[in-house]
Amino acid sequence: MKKTTVTKAIIPAAGLGTRVLPATKAQPKEMLVIVDKPSLQYIVEELVESGIKDIVIVTGRNKNSIEDHFDYSFELENTLVRDGKTELLEKVNYLSEMANIFYVRQNKPLGLGHAILKAKPFIGDEPFIVALGDDIMYNTETPVSKQLIETYNKYGASVIGVQEVLEEDVSKYGVIKPVNKLDERTVSISDFVEKPLKEEAPSNLACLGRYLLDGKIFKYLEETKPGKGGEIQLTDGILKMMQDGEKVLAYNFQGKRYDIGNKIGLLKANIEFGLRNEETKNELMDYLEKELKISK
Ligand code: UTP
Repeated sequence: MKKTTVTKAIIPAAGLGTRVLPATKAQPKEMLVIVDKPSLQYIVEELVESGIKDIVIVTGRNKNSIEDHFDYSFELENTLVRDGKTELLEKVNYLSEMANIFYVRQNKPLGLGHAILKAKPFIGDEPFIVALGDDIMYNTETPVSKQLIETYNKYGASVIGVQEVLEEDVSKYGVIKPVNKLDERTVSISDFVEKPLKEEAPSNLACLGRYLLDGKIFKYLEETKPGKGGEIQLTDGILKMMQDGEKVLAYNFQGKRYDIGNKIGLLKANIEFGLRNEETKNELMDYLEKELKISK
């Protein structure tokens, strides 16, 4: 893999979000709010802070709210100017200026691999980040995507962001088989299995929503047949690429991950980000202590 600066990212956000229905009946789950921002904004911010300049969001039905969120809103901005609400104005303006955001539509949700393929013309053969639209990462020092970019810059190979998960949870994720330890957090891998049974899992190191992939992946995704659940799996494409001799590494990233694709993950994210937010943290803590008798 040749060394190039990583400046592009794909955010797949075209899934049906059935685990949080009916909230996702008429809006994408990536627009569900965590305290005061849609979850997608946290992800775009992570990418921008990691040095990504161009982002393509793969959207599906009900995409308008996503596009509107990252666009200018003349009425809103004029009203905020008129009312002298400069702080809010800055927050709103920043959204339309933070990155170059492009959209491509996945007309049928045929799987994550299929969603990624839709962005092929935009990426070409460059390395790029994939940031899943329902995984928010929290790390105030080095954003998770930046950690993957640094690993790529060090080793010049595709990198899968992993963390240890409980054994009983391996069947929810793509799980890697580590072989050689390259440094404290990086391993080379020899296998990558989508949602394995607990007994068959090659480890408890699961891919949690961030990848840095060589542009070569598209060729392999094009050859990938529908796998688990009748979907074109990104995991299968990565496996094919590895079997063809391309090096793929796994990086045990530092940061807390919130899966907002399910109800409990959404609630946890709202509570924890609420406890970090200057405007809400004191009242929320009082509420948890007094009403729910939960102490720090
Ligand atoms: P998930 O499998 O978690 O999303 O995909 P989903 O299909 O919406 O989930 P449920 O089971 O119905 O609740 C992970 C990410 O990949 C995107 C999703 O939007 C999510 O951000 N995705 C998934 C696509 O863009 N297209 C697809 O065909 C599938």
